[in-house]
Amino acid sequence: MKWVAITVAFVGLILLGITLLPVTPSSASVEKESSQTLDIAKQQSRQNQQVRGAYLTRAGNCMGCHTAKGGPPYAGGHILATAIGSFITPNITPDEETGIGRWSEQEFWLALHDGMARDGRPLYPAFPYTDYTKITREDSDAIFAYLQSLPRVEQRTPPSQIRFPFNLRPLLYAWRALYFTKGVYQHEAAKSDEWNRGAYLVQGLGHCNACHTTRNPLGASQGNVLGGGQIMGSNWYAPSLTSLQEASSSDWPIEDIVQLLTTGLSSRAVATGPMGDVVSQSLQHLTEADAQAMATYLKSLPESAPYSRGMAPELTGEVDKQFRRGGKIYETYCQDCHGNFGQGAPGAYPALAGNRGVTLASPINAIRSILNGGYAPVTASNPRPYGMPPFAQVLRDEEIALVSSYIRNAWGNRGSLITEVQVDRSRKGLQ
Ligand code: HEC
Ligand code: HEC
Ligand code: HEC
Repeated sequence: MKWVAITVAFVGLILLGITLLPVTPSSASVEKESSQTLDIAKQQSRQNQQVRGAYLTRAGNCMGCHTAKGGPPYAGGHILATAIGSFITPNITPDEETGIGRWSEQEFWLALHDGMARDGRPLYPAFPYTDYTKITREDSDAIFAYLQSLPRVEQRTPPSQIRFPFNLRPLLYAWRALYFTKGVYQHEAAKSDEWNRGAYLVQGLGHCNACHTTRNPLGASQGNVLGGGQIMGSNWYAPSLTSLQEASSSDWPIEDIVQLLTTGLSSRAVATGPMGDVVSQSLQHLTEADAQAMATYLKSLPESAPYSRGMAPELTGEVDKQFRRGGKIYETYCQDCHGNFGQGAPGAYPALAGNRGVTLASPINAIRSILNGGYAPVTASNPRPYGMPPFAQVLRDEEIALVSSYIRNAWGNRGSLITEVQVDRSRKGLQ
């Protein structure tokens, strides 16, 4: 009996085991299944990382510098004129031979954070790693993941044309010792999360200081951060973001700042030239929350000492006569768009009255706008912006000097008079 009971129990157990089998899989299939779930989870998180990376790559405007005019995105070949010569930017698509296909996350991080190339050579600060050093490791990895997901483009970059002695890369070690401080952005506990997010974007990914600062002859940022300066190798002036006479937004409502950053147009200003490119290539893609954060930070920037606007003239005697001649030119060529009181037309033509871009101490942007014309930036919300025709062939140097002096002093504007010599220099691409 005892044996029977044992046998029945045994068979029972086996049967039970058989029936249970499909329910409790063997440990091998448990592993297989969980590794499949792991794969899916991994893939999902990789995809999420790439999507985040795509967003950050735009916020950092990597495309702006790493894409040749009309060329494949990120494949390099863009010519970047600087005071020491012309850089031809490298290919950062995942091509193994000509791009960054063989790079690791760590090597990419060293480029962004340390300004060191994969082969251990120091990189030129024309690549704004002096700002990108503030980017977190997590964001760097996400940008890398996105770039690695792009189509490979085989395109070799011709060597940059840098003048002697600046073409000697080892000199960069000295430069770095003097001017480069590496370090990820440090959260300021006394400030809000929104402010910190804005500071992180402006100081790091957005690399606003790459243009909005004065540079010494060695290309190092000098003086106030975001304090404004001539952009090296171009005749554009990037105004101070801390001076009320230039482009500080400390007295603007947040909505107006967000509008300028994301559309390039506001009732007070229009983004032109290189700033127009920054808006159309990068800032228009910011999320609402990030644009707000950036605006919050910009608005909070402490004001720097007022800049001298140069001597605004007394409108008497000979000066008054010239002023009236400038007014006539304005009526004939400009008024239809910019209005008889310089008020512009909302969403189409910028106001010139009260427009700080017109009265900057450095008049190069205004002269250039008149000579070359231009468009407000192309954005999703404004795919076909209104334009301004170039006047380089229509008006003589003297006339452009007169009309520029006029718009700098009409309707309550105050700015120094423009001379023919300044117009002539601008025509020749000089500062
Ligand atoms: C203002 C222009 C500019 C911007 C913006 C810019 N780069 Fe560059 N980048 C350069 C230049 C110029 C070089 C070459 C520097 C050199 O030769 O030392 C470079 C080099 C690099 C390199 C090294 C490539 C190599 O083959 O050694 C990497 C990686 C890189 N950039 C990635 C990026 C990423 C990612 C972004 C956006 C977050 C970015 N760059 C934005 C101008 C720019
Ligand atoms: C490639 C160079 C460059 C970069 C990078 C750049 N700017 Fe500018 N910015 C300019 C120039 C040039 C002007 C003057 C032309 C103009 O007024 O639009 C300007 C003008 C401005 C103005 C004033 C607009 C007006 O007309 O009053 C603001 C505000 C501004 N920039 C903010 C920023 C912020 C914020 C960033 C970073 C996210 C940034 N810029 C990055 C070149 C640059
Ligand atoms: C057909 C319409 C039109 C005419 C005519 C015109 N403009 Fe403009 N103007 C514009 C538009 C549109 C912009 C914005 C373009 C841009 O962002 O580059 C602009 C921009 C400017 C700017 C730059 C403003 C800033 O904030 O940076 C100046 C200065 C200017 N115009 C002066 C003039 C003068 C002077 C004349 C006459 C000689 C003139 N414009 C004629 C449409 C016009």
